[in-house]
Amino acid sequence: MARLNVVVGITGGIAAYKAVSVVRALVLAGHDVHVVATENALRFVGRPTLEAISRNPVHSELYEGVAEVRHVAIGQAADLIVVAPATANTIAKLATGMADDLLGNSILASTAPLVVAPAMHTEMWQNPATVANIATLRARGVTVVGPAVGQLTGKDSGPGRMSEPDDIVAAALAVVGPRDLEGRRILVTAGGTREPLDPVRFIGNRSSGRQGIAIALAAAERGAVVTLIAANLEVDAPASISVQRVGSTLELADAVAAAAPDADVVIMAAAVADYRPETVAQSKIKKETQGDSLDLHLVKNPDILRGLADTRAPGQVIIGFAAETEQNDAKLLELGRAKVARKGADYLVVNRVGWTEGFATERNTVLMLSRAGDIVAEAAGTKQSVADSILDLLSNPA
Ligand code: CTP
Repeated sequence: MARLNVVVGITGGIAAYKAVSVVRALVLAGHDVHVVATENALRFVGRPTLEAISRNPVHSELYEGVAEVRHVAIGQAADLIVVAPATANTIAKLATGMADDLLGNSILASTAPLVVAPAMHTEMWQNPATVANIATLRARGVTVVGPAVGQLTGKDSGPGRMSEPDDIVAAALAVVGPRDLEGRRILVTAGGTREPLDPVRFIGNRSSGRQGIAIALAAAERGAVVTLIAANLEVDAPASISVQRVGSTLELADAVAAAAPDADVVIMAAAVADYRPETVAQSKIKKETQGDSLDLHLVKNPDILRGLADTRAPGQVIIGFAAETEQNDAKLLELGRAKVARKGADYLVVNRVGWTEGFATERNTVLMLSRAGDIVAEAAGTKQSVADSILDLLSNPA
């Protein structure tokens, strides 16, 4: 999914503390998040917390930023507005179109889809006034998420508890994006493997893991059940993605072998070391004992992608990557064609890497080859948008 400008409206209920997780999940999913909090919301959760998590200033005052016409600018720029928690009072105001604070103005001034996550006591939720207001909002196309049934603020429990943040975010993103991968089980590998030499050193590569993580996030947003095997990455992914961390190629191979049988699709975005040191020293290699040179003997690692293609279950789709330094377009294509044939993958995503290209950058340029070697798609842009183009191969197979 492209990077969205998401306005998160936070209103004054105790569930405001959980809105921090809503903001965080949206940021982690790659979106630009702007919090508009009511004055009462800021009694429950601190502005610095929201600013740190959203990475943007938090707005709450109607009479601030007047010169930039902020009361309409925020709503006009929004691609999506999520109000979480939405109190009974806020819901009543939204239903009547009131705009007596910055959030009300922002919502009225916006044509973006509106998602509200009510949170209140059961009596308030079931009050005929609230029931009528919710019906009005739904009739206008507003998406209402929850509330869930459970423990409320006091000793009581029942309907009225705000839905879990991840559920709110999933429902909100589903409103703006396609859910074309609903239920597909997708295994993604990301990052770069490291082959240990001794307890403190390794042979590694410069993969940042960003493209693989972007694929995992985009797949989850499109409804897939995602497992991410992360090689040497600190991944801060939404709870809906199951993340497994590995280090070396052999660890990655084991993790993939265990997870692949349950996957409908495997996407091998990890940069895998082709060779590893034959022996791993059990203590630090010392220069006193090595002298002026050190010979490393490397042995070949298993080709995980090839092994997957050879042993796949019927119907499983396998997508590989090719990292190439070749500058000539025709030769790059030739290398890609040879690689897709050699690996037996259904698709190969070919990207150029180099000192300044491919790794640790925000953007990527790729071409996608079918098993037969035909160019089925090309994509250039942010790693998020490239991720979506790659996933389009699954919803519109070539
Ligand atoms: N790959 C793998 N196991 C390996 C090496 C690579 O599964 N031992 C996978 C990568 O995850 C990627 C694809 O194979 O999806 C191609 O990786 P790449 O490094 O481009 O190609 P190699 O097979 O290593 O071939 P070469 O280094 O000769 O280009």
